Amino acid sequence: MAVTHTLEADVLRRQDPELADILLGELTRQSTTLQLIAAENFTSPAVLAALGSPLANKYAEGYPGARYHGGCEIVDVAERIAVDRAKALFGAEHANVQSHSGSSAVLAAYAALLRPGDTVLALGLPYGGHLTHGSPANFSGRWFDFIGYGVEADSGLIDHEQVRALARTHRPKAIVCGSIAYPRHIDYAFFREVADEVGAYLIADAAHPIGLVAGGAAPSPVPYADVVCATTHKVLRGPRGGMILCGSELAERVDRAVFPFTQGGAQMHSIAAKAVAFGEASTEAFAAYARQVVANARRLAADLGAAGLAITTGGTDTHLLTVDPAALGVDGRSARGRLTAAGMILDTCALPHGDARGLRLGTAALTTQGMGEAEMSYIAALFVSVLRDEVDGRKAREEVRELAGRFPPYPGW
Ligand SMILES: Cc1ncc(COP(=O)(O)O)c(C=O)c1O
Repeated sequence: MAVTHTLEADVLRRQDPELADILLGELTRQSTTLQLIAAENFTSPAVLAALGSPLANKYAEGYPGARYHGGCEIVDVAERIAVDRAKALFGAEHANVQSHSGSSAVLAAYAALLRPGDTVLALGLPYGGHLTHGSPANFSGRWFDFIGYGVEADSGLIDHEQVRALARTHRPKAIVCGSIAYPRHIDYAFFREVADEVGAYLIADAAHPIGLVAGGAAPSPVPYADVVCATTHKVLRGPRGGMILCGSELAERVDRAVFPFTQGGAQMHSIAAKAVAFGEASTEAFAAYARQVVANARRLAADLGAAGLAITTGGTDTHLLTVDPAALGVDGRSARGRLTAAGMILDTCALPHGDARGLRLGTAALTTQGMGEAEMSYIAALFVSVLRDEVDGRKAREEVRELAGRFPPYPGW
């Protein structure tokens, strides 16, 4: 059922060699480079098996026990298991596991709580807010009146006083906390307090840290937020997709906001794969993984900082860090180009000060491969050598290939 099994069984190759080559090519790319993109991970073969299963064929509009299609009795069980596991894993009264993506989850949260034109307070995009937090290029910026809070220029930490002041001035209908690049734990109790003071809903967009929350390596937003939106494919290591957690009183509104308001038929193969991932995430092995993800990110931050890169907030509590490579005489964009050529795959990101772009790195995928702090130090040293032009490009690429080869994401494939 796994990808290579399908390929090796020649099913796809016989029928469509062009696509078979692409699937294998991507497997090779992922296995021979270092995935430092903070939003990515390697799902387990079990999760991939669920994704590639006949559940992909099933139409299932509605919710278990109340579908608009016949023949849902088996996929209903899959969704019930996914919901029960998500509720148990995160201690939530209600879980909706149908959101097709993190953005769809945020859209549904807004649909459940807001009306077009409402004022929403969220982290501004230049400071690490997501597109769905008010970008003019996104539905959020078009349909709602977003006010952006920021981070302190010197520390890179969320400017809590500004959050409170903006909330008092603008009296938003909702406050969103969550980011694509914030390396520290979010103070959910603070956001709850401000939301209560101004009568706003609190929406936690925990797309990034939710896997750490599952593994007990980050504080949970569930006790504080009215609605928690998340992705299932980052540290959580599930299939690409979204999820919403909330209290019982909002359950019906959230469910209706997902289907029928913003989505049609649920993707049952994804939901089964989410259930598999939730099962994996409830084990002690996953908790150990989550702790290692953070330890690895801390080591990467410490070593890159020691080499002269500016580390936003001075370090990290999570799986991600953002750095300014300017001290090495290179800007974020060209740094990414050089690192990519060497096989270190990562993103650029906004920095708390000025307009220059920095680099965002994450350790979720490397840690899934079994790498630890020693490998992080090795990667940091290579990273710095590449940016300082101290190592021949071909040699750096070979070193990456050799390291990745010792930690195959899918051993035996
Ligand atoms: C904070 C935050 N919200 C929402 C999303 C959207 O997730 P998706 O790409 O699955 O739509 C992301 C994705 O990185 C994110 O980081």
